[in-house]
Amino acid sequence: MNGKQAAGELAVKYIQDGMNVGLGTGSTVYWTILKLGERVREGLQVRAVPTSVRTEELAREQGIPLIQFADLARPLDLTIDGADEVNPQLSLIKGGGGALLREKLVAAYSERFIVVADDTKEVAALGRFPLPVEVVPFGWEITSRRLAALGCEPILRRSDRDGTTYHTDNGNYILDCRFGTISDPGSLGRELNALPGVVEHGLFVGMAERCLLGGENGSVREIV
Ligand code: A5P
Repeated sequence: MNGKQAAGELAVKYIQDGMNVGLGTGSTVYWTILKLGERVREGLQVRAVPTSVRTEELAREQGIPLIQFADLARPLDLTIDGADEVNPQLSLIKGGGGALLREKLVAAYSERFIVVADDTKEVAALGRFPLPVEVVPFGWEITSRRLAALGCEPILRRSDRDGTTYHTDNGNYILDCRFGTISDPGSLGRELNALPGVVEHGLFVGMAERCLLGGENGSVREIV
C-alpha cells in the first residue's frame, strides 16, 4: 500500500454515524471515498457534499448519499481533502487538481478539516509547488499582470488532454503562480483576495486541524 492510500483510507476513522461530510478531490482522497463507500454499504449513515464533478461521480458510484447546501441546517461536521504542500503550521497549497474554489468553500463551511497526503507533500516552507489562482476569464490578461506585480510568473493552465485552456468546474481559468518561498502565506493570501478578477487562490491558512501523512511503507503520521 502506498502513502496516499494509507493516509486516505485511515482518515475514514474520523467519520461517524450521522455526520454530514465534505469530500475533497484528488488521488489521495480517492482512497477515502472508496473506503467510505465500503462503510456506507456496511450501514454507516452519512451524507456528503462533493468538491468537484469528479468527486461527485465517484461518490455516486460508491453509493454515498449526497446533500445540497440548501438542505444543510448547519455547517458540515467534517471535510477530508488532499493537498499539494503542507507546512509545519498546517498551511496548505491546494488546487493542483483545479478544484480549489469548491474545496475552500466546503472546508470553510466545516466544523473540522482534515488533510490527507503522502509524505512527499510535507515542506518546511510553502512555494515549491506553483500556487494555483482561479481567475475569471474576462480580462484574465490584466489579472495575470497584477499577479506578476506581486512577485510571481503566472502561467495559464492548459488541459492535459488537448492543450486547450483549462476550465474549472466553475467555468473559470487557473493561473499557476510560482512565487518561490512563501514566508507569510496569510499575508500573501490577503493580497491575492484583494485583486479584481481573482476568484480564489490555493492558500489554505488556519483551516486544517490535522494532517495524515502516509509513507511509502504504508505507515501514517498525524501532525496537528
Ligand atoms: C485539487 O484541486 C487539489 O487541491 C488536490 O486536493 C490536491 O492537488 C491533492 O491532490 P492529490 O491527492 O491527487 O495529490
